[in-house]
Amino acid sequence: MASSIFITMLFISSIFLPKILADNSFIDEACSSTFEYFDRDICLQILRSDPQISSATTLRDFSIHIIQSAIANATSTQAYVLKAMQSSSMSGDHTTAKALEVCSHSYPAALVSLKSALNEIVLINEYMTASYDLLIASTDDIVHCRDAVKAARVSDAVVLTGVRVLPIYGLSAYQIVDRLSAESRSPPPPPPGGLPPSPSPSSSSNV
Ligand SMILES: *[C@@H]1O[C@H](CO)[C@@H](O)[C@H](O)[C@H]1NC(C)=O
Repeated sequence: MASSIFITMLFISSIFLPKILADNSFIDEACSSTFEYFDRDICLQILRSDPQISSATTLRDFSIHIIQSAIANATSTQAYVLKAMQSSSMSGDHTTAKALEVCSHSYPAALVSLKSALNEIVLINEYMTASYDLLIASTDDIVHCRDAVKAARVSDAVVLTGVRVLPIYGLSAYQIVDRLSAESRSPPPPPPGGLPPSPSPSSSSNV
């Protein structure tokens, strides 16, 4: 009995739940970036495991939640980078400290871009500028940190994960916001009920 109720509920939810919960198609699209350094599997893992992201019902909300998670992640990573920078310079590991110093400049820059993108979407629906900011956050803003960490062979897992996931968040949001941008530029759909009636040549010839 209980199982048939469960099956009925499953059936009902497959009809009424928004598309995303049924097949995760937003997430597949978001993780389809072809940028260098973009890891599709990690992207799928991160977006699927975030309940706010994976339960979004519109593309706009979906992109907003990705950017909010990106900001939260980059903010915590930056706080960690500052502490790790201090402790590595205190312990005499100047190579690591120098690399982390580079990162301590990259993260605030990336955060400015991510927050701009968020505001552009939330406040003014300006998707084109937002997509540009997401791109900058994922490339120019973070590239020096990634290069510095690699060159100094930094092994700190939090730092390595942080620098790896920032472009995954940024570029996955970019995929979606870029689509919203294209959709907002295309002509609006015809009004409900179809096009307004136009004078028909055949009806006038019948008079
Ligand atoms: C950033 O996100 C990744 C992926 O979800 C996670 O593994 C990592 O712990 C996060 N970093 C911080 C500092 O919250």
